[in-house]
Amino acid sequence: MADFKIKIRRMQKIDLDQIEKIEVASYGDHHWSKQAFANELSNNYARYYVALNDKNEVIGYMGLWHIIDEAHFSTICVSPDYRRKSVGEALFKRLIDDCYENLIKYITLEVRVSNLTAQGLYTKYGLKNLGTRKGYYQDNNEDAYIMWSENIFYDKFKAIYDKNVRELEQKIEIITGEEEKVC
Ligand SMILES: CC(C)(COP(=O)(O)OP(=O)(O)OC[C@H]1O[C@@H](n2cnc3c(N)ncnc32)[C@H](O)[C@@H]1OP(=O)(O)O)[C@@H](O)C(=O)NCCC(=O)NCCS
Repeated sequence: MADFKIKIRRMQKIDLDQIEKIEVASYGDHHWSKQAFANELSNNYARYYVALNDKNEVIGYMGLWHIIDEAHFSTICVSPDYRRKSVGEALFKRLIDDCYENLIKYITLEVRVSNLTAQGLYTKYGLKNLGTRKGYYQDNNEDAYIMWSENIFYDKFKAIYDKNVRELEQKIEIITGEEEKVC
């Protein structure tokens, strides 16, 4: 039985103060503003989720844009105090489940070439680095890898997903919250 429990639900405007604190702690001067998240919440092509601890505090969040049959992953972040406890993976699983629910076939994202932690999470689910965007990050002109999943409905992807989720559910109990977007 998992010894850690989180709830994952759609992001709401009331979460934004807590999200800003995690952004600042994680990205310093280069964090997204509260307004940027507020704009995302009113974007019909975007879906954002938060992970909450047992005190209903936000401990992580992630978002994606649906573009035709692709999900463009825009952000994922876990509070520094809660890293390496499978919260990031639980959020990533929610992203994949969102794609299954909406018949989205492919997941793509950009990641800093230096961000081996995040790349570890994405490669765990079979995403591959299929290109580089030179100087993509304006703060330090760092390159981005462009990562893609296989078609997530194919057996190869599903086998990786099923194995990872079985292991994930041993480590963390994930309660899925209400799906309505309440702003
Ligand atoms: C990337 C991030 C979201 C991962 O969240 P997390 O909750 O700490 O990660 P998890 O505990 O769920 O780990 C899931 C997988 O990620 C990888 N991973 C996580 N932390 C890692 C680390 N320090 N080193 C190497 N791989 C790591 C591993 O593959 C891990 O699987 P495992 O447990 O089987 O080894 C988190 O480190 C974070 O918020 N970083 C700052 C923001 C950021 O870089 N976002 C990504 C932008 S593209």
